Amino acid sequence: MERTLSIIKPDATSRNITGKVNAMIEEAGLRIVAQKRLQLTAAQAEEFYAEHKDKAFFTSMIEQMISAPVVVQILEADNAIALYRKIMGATNPAIAEEGTIRKTFALSIDKNTVHGSDSPESAKREINFFFSNIEIVG
Ligand code: TYD
Ligand code: MG
Repeated sequence: MERTLSIIKPDATSRNITGKVNAMIEEAGLRIVAQKRLQLTAAQAEEFYAEHKDKAFFTSMIEQMISAPVVVQILEADNAIALYRKIMGATNPAIAEEGTIRKTFALSIDKNTVHGSDSPESAKREINFFFSNIEIVG
């Protein structure tokens, strides 16, 4: 079993569709083994997305990520990292495949509904960023 870190982003929490996103996650065979709703600070969002700090979209992306609460969650499955990236769909919803979370719900590239870890190393870092061991109940 593998674990990945998911974030249901402010564009989704503000539209009250976290349950609809979770239904697609569970239908794909991913188990939500930890979950909590948080209001990120700018400092927390900047640290989480540190790999993007030199990108042109960084400032607006941080503003978006702190514009409303997020739901952070750990998803578990065989190949959870790749499976979740597949059902999320492309970063830009305009080119995401039919049936993906982003094609279904995302509003734009900067309001794209979900985050998912992109490698085992980032999954480990991102899970440890938000969760302690006693919060993961399996
Ligand atoms: P990235 O890690 O490239 O995409 P993904 O979320 O699919 O792993 O980018 C992180 C987030 O930054 C992305 O989900 C939304 C935001 N972003 C923009 O706002 N504009 C952009 O042009 C890009 C590439 C990303
Ligand atoms: Mg990414």
